[in-house]
Amino acid sequence: MGHYLPEPVRTNVDLEKMVDTSDAWITERTGIRARHIAPSGIVTSDMAAAAGRAALEKAGIRPDELDMIMVATVTPDMPMPATAAFVQQKLGALKCPAFDLSAACAGFLFGLSIADQFVRSGQMKYVLVVGVELLSRVLDWTDRTTCVLFGDGAGAAVVGPAGDAPTGGRPRGILSTAIMTDGSLAPALWIPGGGSVSPTTHATVDEKLHFVHMKGQEIFKVAVKNLYSASKSALDRAGMTEADVDWVCAHQANKRIVDQVVARLEVPPSKVLMNIDRVGNTSSASIPVLLDESIRAGKVRDGDTVLMCALGAGISWGSALVRL
Ligand code: ACO
Repeated sequence: MGHYLPEPVRTNVDLEKMVDTSDAWITERTGIRARHIAPSGIVTSDMAAAAGRAALEKAGIRPDELDMIMVATVTPDMPMPATAAFVQQKLGALKCPAFDLSAACAGFLFGLSIADQFVRSGQMKYVLVVGVELLSRVLDWTDRTTCVLFGDGAGAAVVGPAGDAPTGGRPRGILSTAIMTDGSLAPALWIPGGGSVSPTTHATVDEKLHFVHMKGQEIFKVAVKNLYSASKSALDRAGMTEADVDWVCAHQANKRIVDQVVARLEVPPSKVLMNIDRVGNTSSASIPVLLDESIRAGKVRDGDTVLMCALGAGISWGSALVRL
């Protein structure tokens, strides 16, 4: 795995000077204290390539060994072509299909699930899955209900054959995944302008339709319910229980959402990975950034079992159970 977080860091105190908010409100309601914001000149594919490069280095895989590149993002470089095409070029991985995947905050887990199928079937050996978002460019920085929540970043994983389980040992790799969408909830979180529904015009820009619009409380409730059920599905599919889990790596949208999900799962807080205070909600980058940070810090180790879960626009959600 690898990740990339741009500089500078924008703190809650910085935001107090921009919108009618306070460090206390943001910290209490979300757990967020700071987030990384990409400077102009850095684009989505730059961050994705940086995370991808770090993952390839860690895996000891050359870019030309990749069989496929998937980039999960809702903040592409441009509508066409896929951001993955630019990432492929920047990595120098010139002989593989590369495409984008749109499942918002659940994008990395959707990508992991797809990569698992290709590698498990033997059709492909190495698949690069990137979760990357440059949300700061699609936020209305005068809207305090959304701008305080999100940050920029990228995380990546090289998915490859895990090999046979050591004799008498426990199997490694992706043990199970579960992904789902409920399109009836799409209006709860969207960027309504710029597509075929409302092609960009001066009027759509004036109406701020190119920014993130969100019904926060609606998302909150469905997030707690569906992250819990998705986590249970991944455990059931692997024939495991919460007691088998060493770490929960949940999408970092709101500390209160994560707290409520792990309380329902009855997983002790000591097993829950968190970085929302420093990073905010980086959507599809959230899980790979958090997991890679935790591995590089020596907290999550070889042989540990990690339960991941995420939910976002769509509404799409998913989970994955992985033994490293
Ligand atoms: N600073 C100060 N006050 C604020 C701010 C702010 N940044 N934002 C909203 N408020 C005000 C509201 O206007 C409201 O004021 P009022 O009572 O006078 O009307 C008051 O604070 C309470 O607002 P609520 O929306 O009820 O606050 P809530 O406790 O629901 O928290 C939040 C809002 C943080 C958005 C929460 O609902 C949430 O996290 N929802 C999940 C949304 C999410 O995570 N989306 C990300 C994408 S999806 C995902 O990743 C899971």
